[in-house]
Amino acid sequence: MDAAGFIRRKRAGDAHTEGALRDFVVAAVAGTVPEYQLTAWLMAVMFNGLSVEETVALTRAFVYSGRRLSWPAELEPTVDKHSTGGVGDKVSLLLLPWLAATGVRMPKMSGRGLGHTGGTIDKLESIPGFRVNLEERELLAQLRDVGCADIAQSTDLVPADKLFYALRDATDTVERVELIVASVVSKKIAAGASCIVLDVKCGAGAFFPDIDAARAFAVLARKVAAAFDRRCSCVISAMDEPLGWAVGNALEVQEALQALRGIAFPADLIEVCATLGAVALVDCGMEADVHSGRQVMLKAFESGAVWERAQRWIAAQGGSLSGFAERLETLRDYRRIELWAESQGVVQRVEPRLIGELVRSLGGGRLRAGATIDPLVGVVCHAKVDAACNAGDLLATAYASAGDSRSDSEIRNALAAAYSLGSEKADPAAVVLEVLQAG
Ligand code: URA
Repeated sequence: MDAAGFIRRKRAGDAHTEGALRDFVVAAVAGTVPEYQLTAWLMAVMFNGLSVEETVALTRAFVYSGRRLSWPAELEPTVDKHSTGGVGDKVSLLLLPWLAATGVRMPKMSGRGLGHTGGTIDKLESIPGFRVNLEERELLAQLRDVGCADIAQSTDLVPADKLFYALRDATDTVERVELIVASVVSKKIAAGASCIVLDVKCGAGAFFPDIDAARAFAVLARKVAAAFDRRCSCVISAMDEPLGWAVGNALEVQEALQALRGIAFPADLIEVCATLGAVALVDCGMEADVHSGRQVMLKAFESGAVWERAQRWIAAQGGSLSGFAERLETLRDYRRIELWAESQGVVQRVEPRLIGELVRSLGGGRLRAGATIDPLVGVVCHAKVDAACNAGDLLATAYASAGDSRSDSEIRNALAAAYSLGSEKADPAAVVLEVLQAG
């Protein structure tokens, strides 16, 4: 493989052939192209992009870099869901048991944190004992018994994406639509579900800054999924403030568990989940339209079936909820840094990227590939956009480890930078912006 020549082609803005892309990915996974050349190529793609054909070819090379799962007909309908990445995005933690409770099977493959955004696998691993690597026979048994499972990419499932994802995370080569499409769609194809629903995050805290960029992703993702004969729908949802209240691995799991138990419901989080679920129910032929799909979703939630399913799911993957509660107790030993409103006002903005970066810098995400994370650090945004506050009201709390080298006031300043208050009503945007249903 002439890696330097391959990089030169993309640097010059020329197209790769399907065969050349496949050879590059094969060599990358075999370790015969060093990481500095892989990242040089990623940077060339950042500037010069990939055509639709190249994106399909890259996705195919990713899919075929490892094993592919397929599910027996008796398990249909099968649905897989993926988010393009947001801050406080704990949708999968709710949606898996939620859709499973409606009779859909969800074999899901998730990623770890990327850039300033969190990853479901990191979140699930904050539950002591939770196993994100399951054998295929365990997965099958779990899908039969519980209806949902979430696994990480192992070395034999889409290893190419695992490698490129970590390098993109560490080299700031994440936000290129074709790279995101290849990464997301390859994992969905390899995990074998017949329907795919994508939560396309759009706004200040997302990889897509506006609706046009989000639509461009949705259109490309659907084209690439169609090349593999999969139904793919996209829900474009706002990421102009963190989703729900909590940002950080264990804190997000705690929030999801409280919602599942019926203790506290962040309205934006529930709305995104109910819409994605409704779209999935339509795609797999269980409901006629999104409206009736929503009714089914909400009814399942109210019945308590979703919480029951969530407990079975976590237990089936070895997770201990009592162990999780004990782990949360250890937050006592963390520094708790609070941000209060200085004057009366209305919250105008909670900058999701700044909150995501803060959580990453506290140790909740990675600043270099393979770094270990601290599951407990994070931020809770008590006041969301449009909340009216009085002077002295608590806006947000950060949890930092005792060993963090920054002072409390430095961390408080980072929190304060994310918040702006004003005197006007803030009018938060609707959280679900657009639905592009599979054709
Ligand atoms: N999620 C993924 O799985 N991959 C990306 O590249 C971005 C978000």
